[in-house]
Amino acid sequence: MLKDALGREHNYLRISITEHCNLRCTYCMPEEGIALTPKPHLMTAEEIIYIAQIFVANGVSKIRLTGGEPLVRKDAKAIILQLGKLGVDLTITTNGILVPNFIETFQAAGIHTVNISIDSLVEKKFNAITRRNYFDTVMQNIDLLLLQGFRVKLNVVLMKNFNDNEIIDFIALTKDKSVQVRFIEFMPFTGNHWDKSKLVSYAEIMDTLQSAYALSEIERLTDAPNDTAKNFKIKSHLGSFAVISSVTNPFCSTCNRIRLTANGKLKNCLFSNSETALLDTLRAGESIIPLIQNNLLSKKAVRGGMDDDLKFQNPELFSQNRSMIAIGG
Ligand code: GTP
Ligand code: 5AD
Ligand code: SF4
Repeated sequence: MLKDALGREHNYLRISITEHCNLRCTYCMPEEGIALTPKPHLMTAEEIIYIAQIFVANGVSKIRLTGGEPLVRKDAKAIILQLGKLGVDLTITTNGILVPNFIETFQAAGIHTVNISIDSLVEKKFNAITRRNYFDTVMQNIDLLLLQGFRVKLNVVLMKNFNDNEIIDFIALTKDKSVQVRFIEFMPFTGNHWDKSKLVSYAEIMDTLQSAYALSEIERLTDAPNDTAKNFKIKSHLGSFAVISSVTNPFCSTCNRIRLTANGKLKNCLFSNSETALLDTLRAGESIIPLIQNNLLSKKAVRGGMDDDLKFQNPELFSQNRSMIAIGG
């Protein structure tokens, strides 16, 4: 079992399989893009599977594939199919554009839930935030996944005066669609022009909710262990909704997540700048288990040490981290 110094057991590995993406979301990457890692320094498919196997042998029971956009990687199908054989809960976070090419792969690999990023139900706004034109494609692919029997979670990063007026529209979407909409507090990363004034907080989301629905209509669902989200439902609706409140209500005390970047570095927290490189050791034929254990032992209690709001608001501190596109969420 992979424990950190605070006794948190880490059984959830998030693997970023590529730094590339077919969208350019403003909250995720700078407009000019990022300096991409040269190919020899990226994990090969074999290395991804090998590292994943080591984590599984040490207690990991859930693996999420992220990116960039994981489905743009040329050998994504082979990676998904191989990981599907490890007997873990295999999941993926995607922008949804390439989903139709992957339905059979997901089914063969035992992927049951797909998390899709969709930040607006208004085409113009969706295109503005993604700097591309794929709104209809993503909406159609959400329906395709539901039709094919997948559980679908919709990730909505809320930003003040941009999409915060769509909270009720997203909740209305859950009336007849069996999706889980997750409102995410906008988090600071290099190059995403974060500012606290753009944040829509958990408390504000609750206020908006209560302005549209009576308390008797709202059900607080039980959260899954180690859940990133606080879960709710409008009683008469088919689907549900949730809030991921990393900024105003961090959930670090139950953190069970460790991250592997596409260039083979371990990150024990989304906000941690101290990364552990695995590839040189792996390629030298040596064990990476001590590296994994040491990396976890240095994990900070809260948000990689960005533990108070003032630190979190200091661009000099959060700009030492990667852009989100090179972490994978
Ligand atoms: P489930 O396994 O379906 O609950 O998904 P998830 O929330 O673990 O992953 P997803 O990739 O869908 O991420 C949704 C949002 O939660 C993104 O904004 C992530 O950055 C954020 N998130 C995921 N894991 C963590 C975490 O460990 N810490 C923080 N602060 N945010 C996280
Ligand atoms: N703040 C909050 N969530 C973010 N994501 C990407 N960038 C940010 C950010 N700055 C979310 C996307 C995606 C998930 C992996 O991370 O919505 O669904
Ligand atoms: Fe875990 Fe870091 Fe996220 Fe907190 S901010 S839940 S410690 S990954």
